[in-house]
Amino acid sequence: MNNNDKWFKYHGENNLKRVGFKKGQTVLDFGCGSGVYTIPVAEIIGERSLIYALDKDSMELERLMSRAKSMGITNIVRLDASSKTSIALNNESIDVVLLYDILHYYYYPEKHERRKLLSEVYRILKPAGMLSLYPTHLDSSNEPNFSDVKREIEDADFCLEQEIRGLQMMHDGGSEKGKVINYRKI
Ligand SMILES: C[S@@+](CC[C@H](N)C(=O)[O-])C[C@H]1O[C@@H](n2cnc3c(N)ncnc32)[C@H](O)[C@@H]1O
Repeated sequence: MNNNDKWFKYHGENNLKRVGFKKGQTVLDFGCGSGVYTIPVAEIIGERSLIYALDKDSMELERLMSRAKSMGITNIVRLDASSKTSIALNNESIDVVLLYDILHYYYYPEKHERRKLLSEVYRILKPAGMLSLYPTHLDSSNEPNFSDVKREIEDADFCLEQEIRGLQMMHDGGSEKGKVINYRKI
């Protein structure tokens, strides 16, 4: 069994349960890519709950939906992004938003775009909803760096809830040790 198969069969769900995903939650995976996180979260939340898979890359969304179909997963709603900073979901409709490997210099180099995106995440989250961040590409050679992003998230009215370390994560097609940071909407 290769790393990818192991991820979808065991590690994905085990690691994402440690992050705090639970049965019954409604979730948005913003910048979901081919769904390495969307699919295990879809399994955790259960078939009666929805996860919205949002991306600007229709090929990635095709890959995600066809993998989900082959696994018999029916609770993923595809959302083709219509804009960089607005999200076509209702106010206070989502329990958890994933920002995994997206809030960094490559996709969001402009501070005003990061600020607008965070205000959209705030708008669609239910009261006390959770923003879950997988921080990548935020070393000091890049702008924004890790401190910039943490500050911007707190400025957008989120408070740090928990840092979960020692997770097995998937990144750039391989597996790596990583941490996820959960923030609570205040
Ligand atoms: C590095 S991948 C990460 C995918 C996934 N979150 C993960 O961690 O495996 C970033 C994804 O974000 C998507 N993306 C970048 N900017 C976006 C935007 N403004 N709106 C929607 N999706 C975006 C890209 O198309 C890509 O699929």
